[in-house]
Amino acid sequence: MKSVELVKSVGLVKTVGVHNPGDLDPTAIELARFEVLARRRRTNLRIDVERPVPVELVRRLCNVAQWAPNHHRSWPWRFAALTGDARRRLGAVVAEDLRAAAAAPEKIAKAEGKYLRAPLMLAVAVGHGAGDGEERRVEDRDAVAAGVQNLLLGATAAGLASYWGSGAVLGLRGVRALCGFAPTDTLVAMIYLGYPLGDVAVPTRPDPILHLVS
Ligand SMILES: Cc1cc2nc3c(=O)[nH]c(=O)nc-3n(C[C@H](O)[C@H](O)[C@H](O)COP(=O)(O)O)c2cc1C
Repeated sequence: MKSVELVKSVGLVKTVGVHNPGDLDPTAIELARFEVLARRRRTNLRIDVERPVPVELVRRLCNVAQWAPNHHRSWPWRFAALTGDARRRLGAVVAEDLRAAAAAPEKIAKAEGKYLRAPLMLAVAVGHGAGDGEERRVEDRDAVAAGVQNLLLGATAAGLASYWGSGAVLGLRGVRALCGFAPTDTLVAMIYLGYPLGDVAVPTRPDPILHLVS
């Protein structure tokens, strides 16, 4: 996409009041590109399960996740990439928990097949230190969540579809064990990753609630 089209497509001309987009400085172009990327990221489960995600790409995305800010420099990100039969075992752990809670058979069956909807499930957790207080734990979780967004944007840039899943799966001891995480780690995301089969509807955003205080 040419820079002028790119800038127009995200409404930057209007935003910054530039009348000749060809004169925009490189910073404005970079921001416009970033805006396109951020808006393009979608929660999309229309994924080709037959097309694997290269492990080197996954490693790269985990790396970019770790460039999120981290107040305590505790580097709390923990990742586990589940492919092949591991996705079925993940579903089995969740199904077992549902069975123990006497859930409806349909719900249990759904859980069993749930993680086979993508070629790769990426679990992301927070690694906590033994003596971490509440503030540290919260801030480390914030750092991991910020890292997840880096990762999702990276995935979008790489042409992948992604979907941040959550729910009861995140709290299960058996899931942490399957992922190789410590029992004390906190799971924050179970991300479906794969190449897209198609687009999904765009949930538009409201105008930002921004108080200008001076
Ligand atoms: C912490 C967190 C947990 C989420 N968990 C789920 C989930 O379990 N199931 C789901 O369908 N979407 C989940 N989402 C994705 C949101 O539903 C999605 O971001 C929202 O619908 C807006 O769509 P968009 O991401 O395409 O802009 C989660 C998002 C976040 C930030």
